Amino acid sequence: MIKSLREFQLDEESRQKMRAAGRFNAELLDFVRPHVKAGVTTDEIDRLVHDYTIDHGHIPAPLDYHGFPKSCCTSINEVICHGIPSDEVLQDGDIVNVDVTSIVDGWHGDQSETFLIGDVSDVARQVTQCSFDSLNASIDILKPDSSVTEIGHAIVAIAEQYGFSVVRDYVGHGLGLEFHQPPNVPHYPDPRFERIQLIPGLCFTIEPMINVGKFMGVVDPFDNWTVRTIDGQLSAQFEHTILMTEEGPEILTQTSQGPRPGHKF
Ligand code: MF3
Ligand code: CO
Ligand code: CO
Repeated sequence: MIKSLREFQLDEESRQKMRAAGRFNAELLDFVRPHVKAGVTTDEIDRLVHDYTIDHGHIPAPLDYHGFPKSCCTSINEVICHGIPSDEVLQDGDIVNVDVTSIVDGWHGDQSETFLIGDVSDVARQVTQCSFDSLNASIDILKPDSSVTEIGHAIVAIAEQYGFSVVRDYVGHGLGLEFHQPPNVPHYPDPRFERIQLIPGLCFTIEPMINVGKFMGVVDPFDNWTVRTIDGQLSAQFEHTILMTEEGPEILTQTSQGPRPGHKF
């Protein structure tokens, strides 16, 4: 076990804080969900996220995070992650990931969901399904003290069934009083992480980005945030915040109205 991870182990009081942050973040996504449809701009989604969070006395973590200009990320079609809300209008046939992170009483909840806008292509539906199923499969196999590489094995197994690829340059992460902290959580089995164990009390995200084509991404040279697939093919993502307990993993960002494991898109 890498000794320093103990420093991120949460006691019961802190776990309750993370549960509250995750719960609020899930409610925020439930609030936003019905508005994510054709004809809406991603700026309008951003405003809903911002105002709902502020109105409830909390903070949208992305706003001003390393200079990020908006309160959530909206990643359309070939955008892998970190898309910036803008005046772009969601169109029938698009897929869009909305990634929301809240700071509640100092603690972070982080999650995302990919939405199908109207009638989408078969491959758009498949890549969305693949990402959703791979996230759930990777949570399913976790136990206290699992190696973080188990997550990558579970995700790659699902991606291979579809012939899709798993993004390597962006990974899940520990979180708590910080937005991003150890451990890194790769979505592919990186042998260097074999000895990193998910000990009870650790909070982290799993957020597999699945590409229809090549796994590589390119950062937009103008905005320095938007990451697109190198081949322009589609990418989809889902994310949950997980607390490892002595009993196993607990999903802190499960929504009451969103897709559940087994959901068919
Ligand atoms: N929410 C993203 C994640 O899952 C991070 C976004 S960073 C931002 O880790 F600055 F773009 F908001
Ligand atoms: Co995250
Ligand atoms: Co996120």
